[in-house]
Amino acid sequence: MLKKRTSCFFFLILFCWQNQIFASQNQFAIATAHPLATKAGEQILNQGGNAFDAAVAISAALAVVEPAGSGLGGGGFWLLHREQDSLDIMVDGRERAPFAAHRNMYLDSSGKVNKTLSKTGALSAGIPGLPAALVHIAEKYGQLPLAVSLQPAIYYAKQGFPIGERHLRMLAFRHKALKNSAAASQIFLDNGAIPKLESILVQTDLANTLEALAKYGKNGFYEGKIADLLVQAVLNEGGGWSKHDLKAYQVKERAPIIGRYRNIKITSASPPSSGGIVLLEALNILSAYNLEKQDNITRKHLIVEAMRRAYHDRARYLGDPDFVDIPIQQLLDLNYAAGLRSTIRLDKALPSHYLTGWQENETKGSDTTHFSIIDQHGNRVAATLSINFPFGSGLVAAGTGVLLNDEMDDFVSQPGDMNGYGLVGGMANSIEPGKRMLSSMTPTFLEDNQRIAVLGTPGGSRIISMVLLAILDYAKGNGPESWVQVKRFHHQYIPDQILYEKNGLTEHEIKMLAELGHHFKQKSYQYGNMQAVQYNKKTKQFSAASDPRGEGMAMP
Ligand code: DON
Repeated sequence: MLKKRTSCFFFLILFCWQNQIFASQNQFAIATAHPLATKAGEQILNQGGNAFDAAVAISAALAVVEPAGSGLGGGGFWLLHREQDSLDIMVDGRERAPFAAHRNMYLDSSGKVNKTLSKTGALSAGIPGLPAALVHIAEKYGQLPLAVSLQPAIYYAKQGFPIGERHLRMLAFRHKALKNSAAASQIFLDNGAIPKLESILVQTDLANTLEALAKYGKNGFYEGKIADLLVQAVLNEGGGWSKHDLKAYQVKERAPIIGRYRNIKITSASPPSSGGIVLLEALNILSAYNLEKQDNITRKHLIVEAMRRAYHDRARYLGDPDFVDIPIQQLLDLNYAAGLRSTIRLDKALPSHYLTGWQENETKGSDTTHFSIIDQHGNRVAATLSINFPFGSGLVAAGTGVLLNDEMDDFVSQPGDMNGYGLVGGMANSIEPGKRMLSSMTPTFLEDNQRIAVLGTPGGSRIISMVLLAILDYAKGNGPESWVQVKRFHHQYIPDQILYEKNGLTEHEIKMLAELGHHFKQKSYQYGNMQAVQYNKKTKQFSAASDPRGEGMAMP
């Protein structure tokens, strides 16, 4: 429900409420995509919570205040570091295919992929993992009760908050999908139209769903009334969820991918995310070059060639590890990287079709969210959460306030066919009942003798290349403010082109790289929304930065 912009009184109350509770000592760092989510994290830390409680509070708050990016109807990966026993673990709350899903579900009678079904409406929605992950993190790693950590989100959902420009842009992008759902229109649109900037978005049903989660834990969402409403909404719209799908959903704990680039230890997302493997494969390829000594053009050429080869392996090998065998050891082996490196020429780009299988297509705009935390004890959380496209499938299950994801599009609908991010793949990432779709989300920790860093970003297939560029910037000695500002370019093997953000490459760079045989595509906007924090072991100082391309907030 949208309300007109209210008087300053409302914000005064909100401001006082927040500041009465927040007595920041800044013995921590938080960066998220929305100021109210950062505040929620700060509040929970100040109430005696640890980084994991703050992660629960922030994830839930983002579900309310950044509904385009993530939510209870979606999933994500939470990379955790517990300082007391040096545990590094990834909580996999990725959505999975409903049991009624099958390999050909997006093909029409002539065997062609229907490009809409996997991105919009009930058939595009995987079984949500985010609520189960929040319960799991709170119970296993938190210090505060789940109900306490969910409080800020419940407050924001009930009281409402003013919507910003980014929210409006995403609404415009998914206007049609949202209009198709009566419940979504009622919540997010103003009589079917895009609302005004700074109108107040109140989400009463979502507040009730969060309260059910707070009160009954996992069962509050995956069984009982909310589950019934979710299943009913999907069935009404032609999807195939059952109550069993929800009841059977389980969070998985997975060992992160760990590797090194020079003296930096890298801990990152493991399958069913491709993030950590693709990231480390690219870094392994680059590790034998002295990038700082290369001229700017050669340096960028080498980075692109490393990306091309690592994304090629993504398409060939990666999928849900519970369903496919992934040759992880091979892919992370330095000798394997040396073999790939030996195919790189300094004076020439390798056309992607010389690797294997080739097709041309487009990548599309999208949303998701990332946040990073380090608390006063040294616990860390890097979490990237998603409902895939902005506002997911566009479908809200009536009576729940829950916007369902369209994460099914991250599967391969047909070998060789491209998904919404232009990614290709094969059988490893084909649709199977109960399988998790391959992700590119790359929540990452970095550590060397001097510093600890936590970072990540949304951005679909470009997530991994953004994190890669940020790590190369870290390796130069720069801090969070610099990583989040790095100009972005990307290559994902197919389409065979360097995609770059607005002003991401200069005309001179394009001309010189084109002479090496590279092709280009420019985005009309700057992409990504990186959230990064750092702890300097020597100076004992925390620092943080939120991507200037977004509307987030970092502290200190
Ligand atoms: O899991 C994935 O790789 C995608 N669903 C992430 C989507 C995304 O980052 C969209 N953001 N801009």
